[in-house]
Amino acid sequence: MATKKAWGGRFKKKTASSVESFTESISFDSRLYKYDIEGSIAHTTMLAKCKLLTTGEKNAIIKGLKGILKDIETGKFKFKAEHEDIHMNIESALVKRIGDVAKKLHTARSRNDQISLDLRLWARDQIQEIITIILNLQQEIVTKAKPVWNGILPGFTHLQHAQPVLVGHYFLAYVEMFERDRTRLVDCLKRLNQSPIGACALGGTTLDTNPEITSKLLGFASTFNNSLDVVSDRDFCLEYASALSIISMHLSRFCEEWIIWSSQEFDFLDIDDSYCTGSSIMPQKKNPDILELIRGKCGRVYGNLFSLLTLMKGLPLSYNRDMQEDKEPIFDSSDTVKNCLSILKELINKTALKLENMENSCRKGFLDATVLAEYLVEKGVPFREAHEIVGRLVGVCSKNGKELSDVSLEDFKGHSSFIGKDVYRVLGVKNYIKQFKSHGSTSPGSVKKQISAWERKLKKLMAC
Ligand code: ARG
Repeated sequence: MATKKAWGGRFKKKTASSVESFTESISFDSRLYKYDIEGSIAHTTMLAKCKLLTTGEKNAIIKGLKGILKDIETGKFKFKAEHEDIHMNIESALVKRIGDVAKKLHTARSRNDQISLDLRLWARDQIQEIITIILNLQQEIVTKAKPVWNGILPGFTHLQHAQPVLVGHYFLAYVEMFERDRTRLVDCLKRLNQSPIGACALGGTTLDTNPEITSKLLGFASTFNNSLDVVSDRDFCLEYASALSIISMHLSRFCEEWIIWSSQEFDFLDIDDSYCTGSSIMPQKKNPDILELIRGKCGRVYGNLFSLLTLMKGLPLSYNRDMQEDKEPIFDSSDTVKNCLSILKELINKTALKLENMENSCRKGFLDATVLAEYLVEKGVPFREAHEIVGRLVGVCSKNGKELSDVSLEDFKGHSSFIGKDVYRVLGVKNYIKQFKSHGSTSPGSVKKQISAWERKLKKLMAC
């Protein structure tokens, strides 16, 4: 049913109901209600300070807005498509509630700066929430790593056995990854924390307003510089969607690894029954569906980023209605990544690591080949030659089904006179691990240092 629109003055005909349902955004932007009301209260306060509203008018409007907030939160409020979006739904409810004085609320404001404000306030909260969730995940990983830090597992390149690594080292690699994600969000937060309110439709206003007041009331770090730019800008959504995409990519890598690790072939993990699902036909199945879904959801998070990039491409200044299409993708990415991070934390907590299988698996694939080459380097053999010698030894061993540490001293000598009996002190993954000494390596000393550094850092970060 078409009703009189707040913008209806110049129209002679009612809006077609198909147009109302095609153009509405209330079905998805109603979730911005809290920010819309918060913004309107700050705007009202500014208008009164600038003498564009009397104190009485200000109080009536704020009281009305607070009443609407309560109605929404208690489920009494009915959002209507005929009122198009969150802004008009609240404004028309305010007129109904407090009468004509409500019609002064939209002084020196447009829905163009209003929606940018609502979205920025929403994104600010979301980002802060996700930062906390990432910190919790990092904490969970460190807690998981600490008691098993000196377990040994094969490190891979090309998914082929490469060098042994400590379990602690493996886990802390992900803590580093998530730290980059966290700080990317902190960066994004800095740029989006600029108030757009007061830019009005695009060119500003001829009324004597003070956007600084509104900006301060809403806790922004700064106010816009150029009204035309700020109402046209959705970079903050793009940045947030990009940061979320990178998080999602990191999550998918972790999940892929654990899916492989939970296979019968690897058997490095046992995910708790409560975090797995079964098959409708194969009674024996216990599937890592959570990990697969997190990996899969990366697709929609990338898709949302591409929707937003494509949406903004080629848009002339300033506001265009296309921009209403920014909400569903960014809301979806935010919800999706938040859920994935939270459930992964639970799953990590509920997974038992099979340390013995990890260590047994280190017998395969000549993980200690590189330490033998470096042993030769220490004896004065140029690295390329050492590489060649060890390569030949590996070739022989793999033909005979032997490990490097099974080779006799005599056979070693046959390949290089530089090899002495001290070679057995470096061969084998346990010996190898102790030999690592470079910065940030998987040596026990380095891993212990990394764990305590992360414990200190996370404690500090979680306290703020
Ligand atoms: N619902 C609109 C959006 O999300 C609000 C801004 C509308 N502005 C306008 N000039 N029609 O983009």
